Amino acid sequence: MATPIRLDRLGFLDQELKNLEEQGFVWRPRILEGEQRARARFDGREVVNLSSNNYLGLTNHPKLREAAKRAIDRYGAGAGAVRPIAGTMTLHKELEAKLARFKGVEATLVFQSGFAANLGTIQALVGKGDAIYSEELNHGSIIDGCRLSGAEILKWPHRNVEALRQLCQESRHKYRRALLVTDAVFSMDGDIAPLKELADIADEFELIFMVDDAHASGVLGRAGRGSVDHFGLHGRVDVQMGTLSKALGAMGGYIAGSKHLIEFLIQKARPWLLSTAHPPAVVAAAMAAVEILDSPEGEELVQRLWENARYFKHELNRLGFNTGASETPITPVIVGSSHTARQLAKRLFEEGVFAQEIVFPMVARDKARVRTIVTAMHTKEDLDFALSAFQKVGKELGLV
Ligand SMILES: Cc1ncc(COP(=O)(O)O)c(C=O)c1O
Repeated sequence: MATPIRLDRLGFLDQELKNLEEQGFVWRPRILEGEQRARARFDGREVVNLSSNNYLGLTNHPKLREAAKRAIDRYGAGAGAVRPIAGTMTLHKELEAKLARFKGVEATLVFQSGFAANLGTIQALVGKGDAIYSEELNHGSIIDGCRLSGAEILKWPHRNVEALRQLCQESRHKYRRALLVTDAVFSMDGDIAPLKELADIADEFELIFMVDDAHASGVLGRAGRGSVDHFGLHGRVDVQMGTLSKALGAMGGYIAGSKHLIEFLIQKARPWLLSTAHPPAVVAAAMAAVEILDSPEGEELVQRLWENARYFKHELNRLGFNTGASETPITPVIVGSSHTARQLAKRLFEEGVFAQEIVFPMVARDKARVRTIVTAMHTKEDLDFALSAFQKVGKELGLV
């Protein structure tokens, strides 16, 4: 048998990886051994987990587990087709109807992920000859959707409504359609977009208004209905994107809005059209999550989440840490250099606390941080344990 010739056309990747390593940009994800809980085991160590998006603890809720198991028994393990061909099951339609009622909109469409929802929707709504007014700190899935659309991308500075207004005054007349898109809760800073003022600008300049509720779904608004509910903006936001992956404990994203928006996305949103539908277990778990939110238990969970978030943020500030402009359960501890952020995260882990460092290029070079996310499931004991580790390591590193 002839010896195969080794053709390594990917040899350049070794150098690329080395470059990334030298710049400190290499991800080496910690391994979660067991369930995503407030106290969890990562890399062989039991830690207070301040790194998940499991805001309400729903990933392990008995009702989600049971719903997923029942769905597998009844419908099998996979959907077996893309949604437009043979993959739309009664379960998908039930989830979409339930979400529409929960959000108070005409219709919703469920995507395989929040990322896919942003990508597919932005790309479908605008194109060449149109404009997208995009917040400078928008999530990568929005940025990629904007790029794929072929529309002109006009960025405005973080939460600066006046700068946006000026940009619209200068440029809006040049374009056919225009989309205004923003995260509701910013994932690195935990601050909230000024949606009321943005809705006014959308009215003034005729902009399609889209809001990404990835970190607002299950967190903001009555029983976690999202940012539109939080600000009382029902009917003023054309496109609401939400996730089923974070506070809702399952997987997926959705778009909520008018019937014609959803009908149009069914025709045009490429990730929805061209990628296999959610498996039944995931759909059933997401449906159970919406049912929990829409019950007294949901309200209690959201309330507990906010009590924990307020307590933790207040105590971090009292200890002398800089938590920036955070207003939500996402609380960054801003330390400056990437090196210090890495040191802080490493020492915290050794002390039994997992808080991820977030460094350049994810944030500005001088704004490196560790990011903390508390959940409804953390006990006061967990939070106090984490706070004393922050105090100890913060002193050691001269941060407080
Ligand atoms: C602001 C924002 N939008 C969209 C997404 C993507 O959501 P998903 O994880 O459901 O794909 C994320 C997740 O990291 C996010 O933080």
